[in-house]
Amino acid sequence: MNRSPRRRVLAATLSTAAAVLVAGGTVLLSAGNADAATTLGASAQATGRYFGTAVAAYKLSDSVYSTILDREFDMVTPENEMKWDATEPVQNSFSYGSADQIVNHALAHNQRVRGHALAWHQQQPSWAQSLSGTALRNAMVNHITNVATHYKGKIYSWDVVNEAFADGGGGGRRDSSLQRTGNDWIEVAFQTARAADPGAKLCYNDYNTDGVNAKSTGVYNMVKDFKARGVPIDCVGFQSHLNSGSPYTADYQANLQRFADLGVDVQITELDIAGSGSAQATTYANVVKSCLAVTRCNGITVWGIRDSDSWRASDTPLLFDNSGNKKAAYTSALDALNSGGTTNPTSSPTSTPSTSPSASLPPSTSPPPSSSPSTGTAGCTATVSLNQWTGGFVATVKVAAGSTPINGWTVGVTLPSGATVTNSWSSTAGGSNGSVSFTNVSYNGSVNAGASTEFGFQGTGVGPSATPTCTAR
Ligand code: G3I
Repeated sequence: MNRSPRRRVLAATLSTAAAVLVAGGTVLLSAGNADAATTLGASAQATGRYFGTAVAAYKLSDSVYSTILDREFDMVTPENEMKWDATEPVQNSFSYGSADQIVNHALAHNQRVRGHALAWHQQQPSWAQSLSGTALRNAMVNHITNVATHYKGKIYSWDVVNEAFADGGGGGRRDSSLQRTGNDWIEVAFQTARAADPGAKLCYNDYNTDGVNAKSTGVYNMVKDFKARGVPIDCVGFQSHLNSGSPYTADYQANLQRFADLGVDVQITELDIAGSGSAQATTYANVVKSCLAVTRCNGITVWGIRDSDSWRASDTPLLFDNSGNKKAAYTSALDALNSGGTTNPTSSPTSTPSTSPSASLPPSTSPPPSSSPSTGTAGCTATVSLNQWTGGFVATVKVAAGSTPINGWTVGVTLPSGATVTNSWSSTAGGSNGSVSFTNVSYNGSVNAGASTEFGFQGTGVGPSATPTCTAR
């Protein structure tokens, strides 16, 4: 349960239910829910979590479907409507009608939205399927920039990259046209998404990673590397399409916890469990309890509402039967939610994605500099790490305080002729092309002596090679 001795003492002395706050605002835990909630979303909110479902836009006019959706769920994932083939059917011509329908429905019903999915080897439009190399890389960056910008401020978390690891025990990357653009395609996707919507949590999402196994260890190693190098990743999604070939295992919770221990949130993103009756109900309860036991588990999303809505309808894997009646699995999931668990501090239902960027900022570490630290003016140094491809770049800049704390900073960057900045994050950009300045924003101006923070920017053309200047306040 990841509880300190102090937490256990508190838990033992509290007879009721509610979330417990201690001095300094640290959220400790909630025990059992004395006033048991009667819907999945309300019950998940009691521990700071959400309970979501995949939604298909064309079903919103089905009143049985929408009644259950709006009663039970407080998070929504468009099942297909935000995928590349749906949002960019013609290159650089974007189509948001069906996805907007879902987002507008969600916002009108106090539901938040998980964006799914910006970069994936499947469901690519035919024009993208015919691209490779630099052309495909540039198309991916353009796609992510446009879609994430269109939904900026409306997305709780994005599945930035979906299903990039191979099955079969090697723990390596899946071969795909995106992978063949270069092994850095995943980090470029995350950097691009951060530039477009700095307020959204950025997730890597995959299946068959729902326990400790070779595939999940491959993902684990990537996340560890990203955190060490300052690549902006905030969360990992575990799809959890469970059946006899891919069952719930005893190390399900431990697997979530080992990712959380890397400093990322974890989310159950596409849960469905083949089966029926008490066996299915027990597995639903086990998954819910596992999430509740991991402080950094933000919430759970099931992949559809009624069994008939499932991509695997014949497996009857969901919480409602074809007529919309609650199944034993529903009751079991709700009871498990109502029995309480750790409180998730990063997923408060009252917070909006755009107001809490600091909660999802990358760590203050960064990759080895590709240019040496500036000797520059008082108090700080800046180093640039560059991801360059033909026609564009993403720059990550580390700002380090010297031997005294600083209360603000401005970094000056010289760009080669023809380069332009198109986006920046965790800073305010100024100046003109050729000579650009970046000043801290409210949450990253104060840097302790010897510590560092990061910001980044994206551009077209060739990125900076000259050492940036850093001026401290
Ligand atoms: O909309 C067309 C319709 O016009 C056409 O008549 C019909 C004929 O087959 O196809 C319809 O599109 C289908 C679409 O679902 C909407 O129902 C596609 O063929 C079908 O391929 C598509 O399947 C989706 C699948 O992803 C595609 O890979 C499923 O609905 C969706 O649940 C599933 O979701 C994925 C996640 O994105 C990632 N993780 C795995 C998960 C399950 O496969």
